[in-house]
Amino acid sequence: MKISIIGTGYVGTVTGTCFAHRGNDVICVDVDPGRIEKINQGIPPIYEEGLEELLKEHAGRNLKATADYDYAIANSDISFICVPTPTDASGKIDLRFIREASRSIGERLKNKSSYHVVVVKSTVVPETTEKVVTPILEQASGKKAGKDFGVGMNPEFLREGKAVYDFMNPDRIVVGADDPKAGEVIRKLYAGYTCPILTADTKTAEMIKYVSNSFLATKISFSNEVGNICKLLGIDTYKVMEGVGLDARISPHFLRSGLGFGGSCFPKDVKALVGKASEVDYEPILLKTVLEVNERQPLIALRLLKKHVPDLRGKKIAVLGLAFKNDTDDIRESRAIPLIGMLLAEGAIVTAYDPMAAGHMKNVYPNISYFGNAGDALDGADACLIATEWGEFSKLNGEFGRMKTPIVIDGRRVVNSDIKGLIYEGICW
Ligand code: UDX
Ligand code: UDX
Repeated sequence: MKISIIGTGYVGTVTGTCFAHRGNDVICVDVDPGRIEKINQGIPPIYEEGLEELLKEHAGRNLKATADYDYAIANSDISFICVPTPTDASGKIDLRFIREASRSIGERLKNKSSYHVVVVKSTVVPETTEKVVTPILEQASGKKAGKDFGVGMNPEFLREGKAVYDFMNPDRIVVGADDPKAGEVIRKLYAGYTCPILTADTKTAEMIKYVSNSFLATKISFSNEVGNICKLLGIDTYKVMEGVGLDARISPHFLRSGLGFGGSCFPKDVKALVGKASEVDYEPILLKTVLEVNERQPLIALRLLKKHVPDLRGKKIAVLGLAFKNDTDDIRESRAIPLIGMLLAEGAIVTAYDPMAAGHMKNVYPNISYFGNAGDALDGADACLIATEWGEFSKLNGEFGRMKTPIVIDGRRVVNSDIKGLIYEGICW
C-alpha cells in the first residue's frame, strides 16, 4: 500500500520504517528539516534497537521523508497521524498538533479524486478522532467522511527500546473506524499478522490505548505500594510478587517495584485520562492515586539516603542512570529528574553517569558533573543512588571501592547487594 506518516518521532519513524519493511511504499512527513535529512540518509532520528538496519535497507528505495504535504497526500492512499499529544499545565491533553496535521491533510484532500483514509495513531483521548479530527478534515476538504474519504484510529502499543520488535510482534492490533470501508482498508494493511485484530469504533479504540497504559501504570504503583509496606515489614517484595505473579489472572509482568514509572506515555496518559474523566464530571480517585504513589517514590529514596547521610550539604552523591528506563536515551519524565532536583535543593554535589542519556539530561541539569563510566562518577562519592535499570549496573563491584563511603540506595534492584562492605539499601526491599 502507499502510506504517508505525519510526524516522525518515536512512533512515526518506527511505524513508517516497519511498514516499509513489510513491503509498503512509505512517505514520512515532518516539520523538522533535520529529521527529514537524517531519514533520507538512512539515519534514524531516534535510537531504537534494530531500526538503523531497517532504515538503511529502505531509505531511498520504498521509504522517503519530506516536508511536502502536497506530495505526500497526493502519492499515498492512507495517512497515519503520529504527531505529539502533550499534556498542558492542567494535565489536560493538548491537541494543537493533531488539529494542525488534520487541517493540513484536509486541505490536500480537497483536490484529491481517489479515496483516502486518515488514521490517528497518536495517543488521543476518547472522542478526539470523531469530534475533533473528522470535523476538521471535512471542513478543510469540503468533503464528507465515510463517503469521500475514510477516518480511523489505530493505537500503538510500542515500548521504547523494543519498538521495532513490538511493531512486528504485537499482542493485538486495534482497528478503530466509524465507517466499515475505512476499517477494511486498515485491516488489509495488517493482513499477514497472526495476532488478534480487534475492530471497534474510534472512541473505543482510543479508550483501549489509555486503559492499557493506565492499567500497566496501576500495576507498577500497586507494586510500589506493596513494596513500601514489605520494606517496613522486612519482607522481600520481589519474592512476594514472584508468588503473586504466578497467578495466571495476574501475570508476572510489570510487578517490579522501585523508583516509579517515567517515559513519554504512562505519566502523560494517566494524567490525560484523569483530565478526560473530570470533563465528564467523574472523579477518578484510583487513577489519581496511581500518580500520587508514583510521585512519592523518589521522595522515599531521598529519605532512605538521608537515613545514612542526614545532612547532604556539600556531600558528593552519585546518580547512576538518567534515562527513564534501560536501553533508551529518552529522559522524558525520568524519575532521575525529581531525584536530582531534590539532591541539589538539599545542597548536595551531584555526579552522574548514564550509558546513553547524559546528553539529554545536560539540557535539564547543565550544572552537575557527568562522567563516561560508573566508576568515575562514584569516585570519592559519599553515597550513590541507582535510578535506571541498566544491565551493566548489576556487574558493578570494585567500582564501589572508589567511593568515600560505599552507601548504595538501589531504586531499581539491579545492584548485587551481597558485595562485601557495601552499605546497601533497596527502596522497597
Ligand atoms: C507521539 C505522541 O507524543 C504520543 O502520544 C503518541 O502516542 C505517539 O506519537 P512520539 O513519537 O514519542 O509520540 O513523539 P515525538 O518523538 O515527540 O515526535 C513527534 C514528531 O512529530 C516530531 O518529529 C515532530 O517534529 C513532528 N511534528 C510535530 C510534526 O511533524 N508536525 C507537528 O505539527 C508537530
Ligand atoms: C509504555 C508501554 O509499555 C507501551 O505499550 C506504550 O505504547 C508506551 O508506553 P514505555 O514508556 O516505552 O512503554 O516503557 P515501559 O517499558 O512500559 O516502562 C515504563 C516505565 O515503567 C519505565 O520507567 C520503567 O522503569 C517502569 N517500570 C516498568 C517499572 O517501574 N516496573 C515494571 O515492572 C515495569
